Amino acid sequence: MLNFSRVHELPPEELAVYRRLDTSRLPEHVAIIMDGNGRWAGKRRLKRFLGHQQGAESVQYVVETASRIGLPWLTLYAFSLENNLKRPRTEVSFLMRLLRTYLTNNVERMNDNNVRIQYIGRTEELDPEVRERMDWAADATSHNTGTVLTLALNYGSRSELVDAFRALSAEISRGELRAKDITEQDIQRHLYTAHMPDPDLLIRTSGEMRISNFLLWQIAYAEIFVTERLWPDFRGIHMLEAIEDFQRRERRYGGLGDGSESDDVASLPANTLVPR
Ligand code: FPP
Repeated sequence: MLNFSRVHELPPEELAVYRRLDTSRLPEHVAIIMDGNGRWAGKRRLKRFLGHQQGAESVQYVVETASRIGLPWLTLYAFSLENNLKRPRTEVSFLMRLLRTYLTNNVERMNDNNVRIQYIGRTEELDPEVRERMDWAADATSHNTGTVLTLALNYGSRSELVDAFRALSAEISRGELRAKDITEQDIQRHLYTAHMPDPDLLIRTSGEMRISNFLLWQIAYAEIFVTERLWPDFRGIHMLEAIEDFQRRERRYGGLGDGSESDDVASLPANTLVPR
């Protein structure tokens, strides 16, 4: 990745947090469940759509910080399959209009920040005028080599797995693969994220302790950071603080931590309770 440091462009308060980070252990991929737009608006006796509008502002701030610290991958849960099916039509069409406006107004800033935009989800089911803007923004930023901003749109993790299994069964029908030979890599290469590393850090705003059908396969070993802060109040500095917290964790991937020694079971007294 052709990236020179743009850390000096961070505002002073973000730079102060960045200076506390171990730059040799920055996450490669941060994924965010952006929640709380409705509550943000409700607290101010405003209509929900104003919360979404404010949420779109937060997106740009966070993208800019990500690009300044050279974060390779940032993935945002912008619109779930369930949002599409279960929210009132007026809210869904507002969110789609907001997305179009966001793309139209921010492509220039993405280019200034060397950000490339792409999408995951059943985007073919979105309205043609939304898809047109999405393709336009992806084309217009395709030459950028910095942060890859992935918007999850009409996305659901279970339906992503369904799509992957359908593709695998098609390979089996064509005789290209045998069912008994399927590996984790075969499933992984059919996910929408096949070309991406798994998230190291998953952030959720607004305090709910849920994954909400987001990247279920990919977050197997991600560290999870939940903040009470509502998405419209979330800024780059809060992502940096989440990264600081992430760096305090010890990632073990199912193994033992550094410094912990394995018990010598054979030397235990015979009456010690050892599961057999
Ligand atoms: C949850 O708020 C958030 C969403 C429905 C999706 C996120 C959408 C945005 C941040 C706005 C637009 C995004 C882009 C990329 C332009 P909620 O309504 O579920 O909040 P609540 O749980 O407080 O009701």
